[in-house]
Amino acid sequence: MRVSNLGVYLLLNILFCVHGYVNDVWNNNNNVEGSGVHSIELTQSLNLARQEWIQEACRRRPPRGGLAELPPTQLDHILVSEKHKLLYCYVPKVACTNWKRTLMILEGKWNTTDVLSIPANLSHSMGMFRNLSSVPPEQRDYMLENYHKMIIVRNPFERLLSAYRNKLEGDSISAKYFQDRVGRRIIKAFRPNPSNESLEFGDDVSFEEFAQFLAGAPAELADVARNEHWQPVASLCHPCRVNYTLVGKYETLVDDALLALHTINASHIQFPRLARTSGTADKLRNYYSLLQLPLIRKLYKLYKDDFRIFNYDLKNIIGFDLG
Ligand SMILES: *[C@@H]1O[C@H](CO)[C@@H](O)[C@H](O)[C@H]1NC(C)=O
Ligand SMILES: *[C@@H]1O[C@H](CO)[C@@H](O)[C@H](O)[C@H]1NC(C)=O
Ligand SMILES: *[C@@H]1O[C@H](CO)[C@@H](O)[C@H](O)[C@H]1NC(C)=O
Ligand SMILES: *[C@@H]1O[C@H](CO)[C@@H](O)[C@H](O)[C@H]1NC(C)=O
Ligand SMILES: *[C@@H]1O[C@H](CO)[C@@H](O)[C@H](O)[C@H]1NC(C)=O
Ligand SMILES: *[C@@H]1O[C@H](CO)[C@@H](O)[C@H](O)[C@H]1NC(C)=O
Repeated sequence: MRVSNLGVYLLLNILFCVHGYVNDVWNNNNNVEGSGVHSIELTQSLNLARQEWIQEACRRRPPRGGLAELPPTQLDHILVSEKHKLLYCYVPKVACTNWKRTLMILEGKWNTTDVLSIPANLSHSMGMFRNLSSVPPEQRDYMLENYHKMIIVRNPFERLLSAYRNKLEGDSISAKYFQDRVGRRIIKAFRPNPSNESLEFGDDVSFEEFAQFLAGAPAELADVARNEHWQPVASLCHPCRVNYTLVGKYETLVDDALLALHTINASHIQFPRLARTSGTADKLRNYYSLLQLPLIRKLYKLYKDDFRIFNYDLKNIIGFDLG
């Protein structure tokens, strides 16, 4: 059966997003971080500090051209909830499934307020939400000025590792699909003398090969190199062109959700208390220690804007920063 490139691209995106989320939750019940421990006031002051950080970072390196100069398709990750005057730029691997589910409830596309009762794949189905790419410029500018604008970010290297572990290392059905469509091509391009099995199944891509693929994908891999799961947040959400008013981080997910729901007058919805993967810090250090410094530098360069704009660094991962 032949599937169009676009079809494969979308399917990969959907599988990746859903499955990655499930793994993250299920590994994760025993850690209190991110489970809603701060007051709304404290969270709001953190939110404002994050906004100021972003503005300062953007002032130092202003983007070339404003929002109006971007092709409209560049705004397709910004989802619209007109009922609650909310724009949400979704970033795969950063709790996007639960926020999409929440958005469904906000938009009256689901009957209960139980976020986890919504099938994950339904929340990712095509056409579920309006996105900013199809909003006429005048209305778009009105929304950008008057709506709440939310983004949730995560340390870029943590997001990458999460993507790798969920899809290239995993053995779920969706991981197998991904290995078949992407893993085999990575092995073909980056492994000298691959075995027939590796070429056939694509299920043993090493973290180093994944990193090499990201750092220097050849032209024939350009379609998968652009996958939304590892595309920098800066290029998905344009944080220097959109003044986000709710800036969440994976590390404080539940507190940030409480603030966001409070802000849009939807406190009746309870955002699920997923905590962080236990042992994440150790895992990060272990995986990244497999990479040579020059390769880490190349990866860092790819995500430099995300590190800079969202105030992340490498200290906890490689022991020092490269900025
Ligand atoms: C954004 O909306 C357009 C028009 O409705 C749609 O074709 C496209 O698939 C949507 N993109 C995303 C990423 O949801
Ligand atoms: C919500 O529930 C009502 C009554 O049970 C039903 O008619 C309606 O189709 C439901 N809507 C959705 C979106 O599930
Ligand atoms: C979601 O997955 C279930 C079970 O795999 C399937 O029955 C259902 O049709 C899917 N729904 C959508 C909207 O893709
Ligand atoms: C691998 O595949 C090639 C070509 O199909 C074949 O000639 C070779 O014998 C295979 N090697 C192994 C070890 O199965
Ligand atoms: C975002 O905020 C900055 C600083 O307040 C302002 O200069 C800029 O015009 C705003 N940009 C947009 C697109 O609203
Ligand atoms: C908040 O929502 C409640 C009911 O959902 C509504 O009665 C109230 O007017 C809303 N307040 C604002 C400021 O929108």
